[in-house]
Amino acid sequence: MNCCPHDLHTLDRCRHLKPTLTKAQQLHFANVVSTFQNYAQYSLSANNRRRKDLYTLPKADQELLSRLGYREKLDAVDEAIAKNADFLNGVVADPEIFGHAIDGEEEPAQRPRHSHDHAHSHSHDHGGHSHSHSHGKRYKPTDFDMDKLRSTLKQLVRDWSAEGKPERDACYFPMTQALLAHYDNVPEAERRNLRVLVPGAGLGRLAHDVARLGFASQGNEFSHYMLLTSHFILNQTNEINAHTIYPYVHSFSNLPTRDALLRPVSLPDILPSDLPSGANFSLIAGDFEEIYGSPADPSEPHAGLWDAILTCFFIDTAKNIVNYLRIIHSILAPGGIWINLGPLLWHWENNTTHDPSVELSLDEVKTLMGEIGFVIETERSFDTTYTNNAQSMLGYVYKAAFWTARKKREGE
Ligand SMILES: C[S@@+](CC[C@H](N)C(=O)[O-])C[C@H]1O[C@@H](n2cnc3c(N)ncnc32)[C@H](O)[C@@H]1O
Repeated sequence: MNCCPHDLHTLDRCRHLKPTLTKAQQLHFANVVSTFQNYAQYSLSANNRRRKDLYTLPKADQELLSRLGYREKLDAVDEAIAKNADFLNGVVADPEIFGHAIDGEEEPAQRPRHSHDHAHSHSHDHGGHSHSHSHGKRYKPTDFDMDKLRSTLKQLVRDWSAEGKPERDACYFPMTQALLAHYDNVPEAERRNLRVLVPGAGLGRLAHDVARLGFASQGNEFSHYMLLTSHFILNQTNEINAHTIYPYVHSFSNLPTRDALLRPVSLPDILPSDLPSGANFSLIAGDFEEIYGSPADPSEPHAGLWDAILTCFFIDTAKNIVNYLRIIHSILAPGGIWINLGPLLWHWENNTTHDPSVELSLDEVKTLMGEIGFVIETERSFDTTYTNNAQSMLGYVYKAAFWTARKKREGE
């Protein structure tokens, strides 16, 4: 996938730079849009299964459950799904913003084994690569697709809601603090001359936080779920709390109360347009290795270009961590800083698509960093969750590794 050097949406506050997509990638994009559009039907039918199950129970049991208001709970979930669907249809109301024709055909996505979102998914969107067979019929989203979409709703909570603040404080805050500390000799007005890259930017909040601090900020992301949704929030949302979603209505497990299932979450918690005047903020669509490892646009080479690279829950998406580290090292400017926070949940471990996967322990990653030419300056670990339902009876806590690292100087 190549990075398109020109920008279709120069008026956008966050410039989403689109890649030139191959036919297969366009098909994948169309299938993601179909997944958004099929959300209501799919989710309502999953909830209806619960209704049908009720009828299979003995009458006495049905009556007891009626007294608990179980049926009303199912109705409330239907209503919440309808509201989620309104939101999701809004996200894809104008998918041509990315310049791709939409002609949904059957094309299942590849599946890495793991995602950081443990509550539902153990797979991960692979951002646009698909198997090659196509049957010319309307695309029917798979459970895997819907899982990605439900994860996107929870990712919205992490990045763009007041409820996500504790997660952001645990992950993004130490990273932006480290960035500010490294450049504390640079006056605020001159931060715009410092280029910061956020690979695997998700829904863009960390990259936005960096832009808000006055740095020139570029996110990179390859998932169409993320790109469509971040475009909607960043460029088409003009009010705090303009949207309400119900991110937790898809699973009834481990919930202490009905509120934990049905509670609404409002977004965004800040105005996305709230950026310093003249802010330089963009999101580049495409594969990190393809764009930054072999730049498509020779007039904008990446080698030595980036004053800071911030990777949050990203490096374990690598099939080959050696290549990720090599690219980060080569595109970092002399005196620049790499700031990382995240676990090592190797996304491609035990994949079923015969993709290679290298899985290192933390101490091996650190040794590899030394071999590639990094010096670790600070390191520690932070306990943090990832798209956690704060009210759930189940929660995964990562002991995320945090470090700041710089390039070795000659002879060091
Ligand atoms: C676990 S998420 C983390 C998102 C965000 N940094 C956060 O902390 O919420 C990893 C992100 O990296 C993206 N990603 C994975 N491999 C990528 C690649 N090769 N190029 C660009 N993005 C990638 C995924 O689509 C996903 O959005």
